[in-house]
Amino acid sequence: MLIKRATDIQPSEITDRGVYLQRRAFIRAAGLAVLSASAAGALYTNRSARAGEKVFAGVSKSPFSTTEEPTSYKDATNYNNYYEFGTDKDSPARYAGKLKIKPWTLMVEGEVKKPRIWAIEDLLKTMALQERIYRMRCVEGWSMVIPWVGFALGDLIRQAEPTGKAKFVEFVSVYQSDNMPGLRLPVLSYPYIEGLRLDEAMHPLSILAVGMYGEVLPKQNGAPIRLVVPWKYGFKGGKSIVRIRFVERMPQTAWMKASPSEYGFYSNVNPAVDHPRWSQAKERRIGEFMKRKTLMFNGYADQVAGLYAGMDLKKNF
Ligand code: MTE
Repeated sequence: MLIKRATDIQPSEITDRGVYLQRRAFIRAAGLAVLSASAAGALYTNRSARAGEKVFAGVSKSPFSTTEEPTSYKDATNYNNYYEFGTDKDSPARYAGKLKIKPWTLMVEGEVKKPRIWAIEDLLKTMALQERIYRMRCVEGWSMVIPWVGFALGDLIRQAEPTGKAKFVEFVSVYQSDNMPGLRLPVLSYPYIEGLRLDEAMHPLSILAVGMYGEVLPKQNGAPIRLVVPWKYGFKGGKSIVRIRFVERMPQTAWMKASPSEYGFYSNVNPAVDHPRWSQAKERRIGEFMKRKTLMFNGYADQVAGLYAGMDLKKNF
């Protein structure tokens, strides 16, 4: 039987949410004060006695954030998809603790003038971190609102200077055979691969997230760095990314390989295009009882519809 270790229990599980949030704000303020007085260059600071718990310094607010109420931290970190750790919703929270995330490098390669292997610490020192509160819609029909901490993917891409041949960007998740009990299940082929068209990747809404709820990403949510593309179904957001490759041809993603008739490359949230086995017209926001209507491009149509002008979105699903 699996027994939850004390260090795995989130404060939100044992404290009233309002008290919890107030305390977080206080502890964060205290933590930032410590940071400003600490050695230059330190990026994170311990903010409480809980082992490994860290917050970010210098995070600005993003105008792209929704004002909708964020999903509870408990739900966001216990109801997950990370098939490398198993297919049950609670498998990632149970098993991702074994994921080894130190040291971590991110390789940027392919059709770029400046390929580079980034140590994650150096990357974070370079990029402007923002809190982005995004609506997230899973292809399975549930949705959440997550306050991510991350930076614009476009900022990293501009540093890499894609060549004229770069048309798509491929994202490769980590593969740790010793630490990932889900790898042997016959669902997907690994490493988990996702992809975007270069203009989608450059869109200001596309981010690489390194935290959520003001803290570093929990492993089950894709630590230490994951893709977040809020107008697409959640599976486009590859977790624990180790490689970003610029390519000329459309990448074959893990889900396209597994079931091409069900999962297309674009995977834009679209209530008018059903999954072959279920409707996509409505969604259940985790924490709510009644279903709500799913919005075109997950409510981000004003910002992203132009990317698909003239395309048949039923064919390019
Ligand atoms: N990334 C990897 N490497 N492996 C996965 O199984 N699942 C995807 C996506 N990224 C997945 C992944 C799916 S199906 C979804 S809905 C989201 O992660 C879930 O993210 P969350 O658990 O943080 O809500």
